[in-house]
Amino acid sequence: MTTSASAGPRVRPRAEIAQRTLRTDRWWLAPSLTVFFLVAWLAYGVVRVFLQENYWVAEYGYLTPFYSPCTATGCIPEAAHFGRFTPDHPLIPYAPLSLPFLLLFRLTCYYYRKAYYRSFWLSPPACAVPDTHARYTGETRFPLIFQNAHRYAFYLAFVITAINTYDAILAFFGERGFGFGLGNVILLINVVMLWGYTASCHSCRHIMAGRLTHFSRHPVRYRAWSLISKLNARHMQFAWITLATLAITDFYVMALAAGWITDVRFIN
Ligand code: FES
Repeated sequence: MTTSASAGPRVRPRAEIAQRTLRTDRWWLAPSLTVFFLVAWLAYGVVRVFLQENYWVAEYGYLTPFYSPCTATGCIPEAAHFGRFTPDHPLIPYAPLSLPFLLLFRLTCYYYRKAYYRSFWLSPPACAVPDTHARYTGETRFPLIFQNAHRYAFYLAFVITAINTYDAILAFFGERGFGFGLGNVILLINVVMLWGYTASCHSCRHIMAGRLTHFSRHPVRYRAWSLISKLNARHMQFAWITLATLAITDFYVMALAAGWITDVRFIN
């Protein structure tokens, strides 16, 4: 691409070849799998969020992350760790203070942008495969300019992950007092992975030391930045792993609450 001060950006035309792409590998496989798994996960999530039942196991104090914090007036009182004050309506989730922000966090995530720009918007679907759109405006206009709000979504997601951690700790103290079962292990793995995803966020890395020019004068921030940078290299993996751990955790809690299975108990 070349630029001129008077005429603005000038895009070089594509090489004149008959083929859409010269790639002969299965470049379409990754975007197709991304569509399949994201749509499947969203379908499951929407059904679960609006089911408004089987989200709490009183005996062991297990609360699914899809209903945390449970603030609707219709929530089971013991599951509402922060009070019940939001409307109880079939079209309003029981956790209306977290789910929209978590959705915003994932929608504006740098990794998920790549995933859905490629897989749903085909812009472009893969390297060396042409964009299906004639023009490219990037994230400079409405609505995509709101992608730049990711840093603020990160702050909120940080708080919500802390709430999920609090739920996982409370789950050691059910109706029968202190106990430890497979559900605790699943809840703990989920929050550890959620912290991995949250801490490996590009915004978190930038907040930690993105503007520092002298690392030597900020050794603690430098150490934190170095650690986050290592996690950041695995951000895509955390993005997918947390989708899996969230769904597994929710399904396990639902299966227990519905009486389909019983928890495997190690202590009490
Ligand atoms: S959560 Fe993915 S970049 Fe911030």
